[in-house]
Amino acid sequence: MPQLPSHHTFSSPEAASEALASEISNLVSSRAAEGRSAVLGLATGSTPIRLYAELVRLHQQGLSFSNVITFNLDEYLGIGKDHPESYWQFMHSHLFEHIDIAAENIHIPDSGISEEGLEEYCTAYEKKISEVGGIDLQVLGIGRNGHIGFNEPGATPDLPTHVTELNKVTINDAADSFGGSENVPRRAITMGVKTILGARRVVLLAFGNSKAAIVQRALTPGVTAEVPATYLQLHGNTAYFLDREAGAQLD
Ligand code: F6R
Repeated sequence: MPQLPSHHTFSSPEAASEALASEISNLVSSRAAEGRSAVLGLATGSTPIRLYAELVRLHQQGLSFSNVITFNLDEYLGIGKDHPESYWQFMHSHLFEHIDIAAENIHIPDSGISEEGLEEYCTAYEKKISEVGGIDLQVLGIGRNGHIGFNEPGATPDLPTHVTELNKVTINDAADSFGGSENVPRRAITMGVKTILGARRVVLLAFGNSKAAIVQRALTPGVTAEVPATYLQLHGNTAYFLDREAGAQLD
């Protein structure tokens, strides 16, 4: 039975990011007290930057990430991890270089996998998620076209981690950072909607006016492949953490 995700509108992106950092911190510490790992699914992009800054601050105040295992949602294909726009670089510069996570506990899809090895690589990525017991908490952003991860409009809900083609809106949105749309990779590896729906808890962050219309659409009852974020209505434990601007078109 579809169930609309809850939404919480905060006074600012900072306040929303602090609330999610606090939820993550509670999960990580309670698992540590039980001698267990916490498995986090992570996103890149401009939206989670404040979240990662807050997690770094909590680490400086004593929060350890030594029991944390992470899986990133996605990565561009064919650019290599040394490319300044790779998600590998993003995650290391915003988070991993500043916390005590073990290198072997970090999983980011590899943008340099050869064409022949891709299918096997995606299957192995998905298997690793299962082997550690699945994702406890998945952080998401949302594209202006409603994508989650790189599950673009038209995505089906049954796919695990796979190779996908980027949509025009996604390519245009990335054009500035790549110095022109012609330089934006056309393909990516992404967790599928199935992978995302497999997480025990999902928190989607969205900030700013440019996200208001798609957030309103994603939270309107009715699941459609044209707005992949509507698949989160099938999840049952998803929350949207918004700032006032992104929440402005909700009742
Ligand atoms: C990033 C990702 C994307 C972004 C989305 C929003 O790992 O999977 O779905 O979350 O494109 O990007 P920003 O935050 O830059 O608006």
